[in-house]
Amino acid sequence: MSQNLPIDRPLRLLAISGSLRSASSNTTVLHALQAVAPAGVIVSLYNCLGDLPYFNPDLDGETSTLPSSVGQLRTQIGQADGLLISSPEYAHGVPGALKTALDWLVSSLEFPGKPVALINISPRSTFVHASLSETLTTMSASLIADPAFSIALPGKGLDVTGMLADPQVSQWLHAALDAFVRAIREHCTVDIGR
Ligand code: FNR
Repeated sequence: MSQNLPIDRPLRLLAISGSLRSASSNTTVLHALQAVAPAGVIVSLYNCLGDLPYFNPDLDGETSTLPSSVGQLRTQIGQADGLLISSPEYAHGVPGALKTALDWLVSSLEFPGKPVALINISPRSTFVHASLSETLTTMSASLIADPAFSIALPGKGLDVTGMLADPQVSQWLHAALDAFVRAIREHCTVDIGR
C-alpha cells in the first residue's frame, strides 16, 4: 500500500522514541535527526508515549470512547508522511510503552502503509530490532530497510550538540535522514493535485 505525497508542503516525519528515560540516547538521536532535517522536511517528536493507557480492546470498539491520548496519537500518525522509530532493548524485548503505542495502532485507519524507518543505535540489540520488524510488518507498515539507519554510537551520553560535533555521527545523521526521505519519495505516489 502506498500513500499520496503532496508536493506543495514540507514532508512531515514523526519520530517516536521507545525510551521514557530523560537522558535517553534513543530520544537524543531523534532530536539530532530533527536538527539536521533539510529544508522541506519537518521532524516532530512524539512526546506522549508515557501517557498512553495499556491497550484494551474494550476501549477500541465502535461503541466505546477512545482514550483522548490514543486519539491524539492516531491523529499525529495520520498527519505524518513517515515514522522514525528508535528504541532500546529491554530483556531481549520491546519496551512496554512502545508496544502499547503499537497495539493501539493495530486497528487504526492511519497506520497501514505508513513508511517506517527503524533507527538502530545499538546494533548488538538484535532482539528488539527483529521483534519490532515483525510487529510493524504484521501491522502493514511500509518498513523501509536500509543499512544507513544503523550506527554504533561512539560512547555513552552524547547530547545533541555532541552528536552534531562528531564528524562520524553527524555524517550518519544526514545519511540516515536522506535515505529515509528518498525511500518515502520513491515509495509514495506524488499527489500533484493538492
Ligand atoms: C537494558 N539494556 C539491554 N540492552 C540490550 O542490548 N539487550 C537487553 O536485553 C537489555 N536489557 C535491558 C534491561 C533493562 C531493564 C535496562 C534498564 C537496560 C540496555 C539498554 O537497551 C541500553 O542501555 C539502551 O541504550 C537504553 O536506551 P536509552 O534509554 O538510552 O534510549
